[in-house]
Amino acid sequence: MSFFRGRRLRRTEVIRRMVRETELRPQDLIHPFFVVEDANVQDRTPIASMPGQFQLGLEALVAEVRQAWTLGLQAVMLFGVPRHKDEYGTQAYAREGIVQQAVTRIKEAVPDIMVITDVCLCEYTSHGHCGMISEGRVENDPTLQLLAQTALSHARAGADMVAPSDMMDGRVQAIRRSLDAEGFGHLPIMSYAVKYASAFYGPFREAAQSAPSFGDRKSYQMDPANALEALREAEADVQEGADMLMVKPALPYLDVLYRLKDRFNCPLAAYHVSGEYALIKAAGEKGWIDERQVALESLTSIKRAGASCILTYFAREAVEWMQEY
Ligand code: PBG
Repeated sequence: MSFFRGRRLRRTEVIRRMVRETELRPQDLIHPFFVVEDANVQDRTPIASMPGQFQLGLEALVAEVRQAWTLGLQAVMLFGVPRHKDEYGTQAYAREGIVQQAVTRIKEAVPDIMVITDVCLCEYTSHGHCGMISEGRVENDPTLQLLAQTALSHARAGADMVAPSDMMDGRVQAIRRSLDAEGFGHLPIMSYAVKYASAFYGPFREAAQSAPSFGDRKSYQMDPANALEALREAEADVQEGADMLMVKPALPYLDVLYRLKDRFNCPLAAYHVSGEYALIKAAGEKGWIDERQVALESLTSIKRAGASCILTYFAREAVEWMQEY
């Protein structure tokens, strides 16, 4: 018989392990956290659509980050929910803003963990859009200055990396220039370069209280039908100075991730977003799927498709599950 016998290398766990091409590691995973200004510092308020995730007061956040570090995670992503929102999102770049305070506290308490900050305005604006509004439209160029100021304020607070997620054109360049001019030439930028206008962000908007009060984000986030446009976005961000590129969401866009991997030789991140997490949690709770197996299979697939790191709300659980194997 001379046909391909793939089963020879699948006979035992030992041999399967020997030929395994992709392996998830704790250092591949980045845990996102939500820190809330208008809360007692120890508060942990469950997020209904994201079981196991919480809106955290400042000290509760520090405790979770410490626990994440102890488990073997080495990076976190921070989102802030401010007490006051206004038209220009001023709390996004306030020196004592909630994210700025959180970064400083984490770097005091767990100095070696890498703190990445999400740079955007939508959690801070009264209208919930990611940029300034004029006559009902999101204005691109006037927003750039505010984003640059936001990134700079995070850098000054001690952030190790900034991650712009607003999808304004030219924001990587604006942020790079302001960081360089203020002595933060060493600080890397992870750009949410390829970010789709996705319905999978639903639970996040509850968690971050950032749903737009009118319209949607389709004039700045990408059309899910487009892949070539993803290459143009990625190209622009690399030229503007991005050190890492992100694709978001992850599972529905693995083809896009793979195309980027093929074309760009810079590290890629993928964001396994809130809705992707919620689907697995919900079906798992109903007993319709095996939550743990589905989560690990999803994360492994994202890595196999080309991500060198993955932002995921499963980060902590995934590390615990990995250790049990
Ligand atoms: C802010 C931002 C969003 C997410 C990350 N940064 C929401 C949005 O664009 O509406 C979504 C993350 C998730 O769903 O887990 N612009």
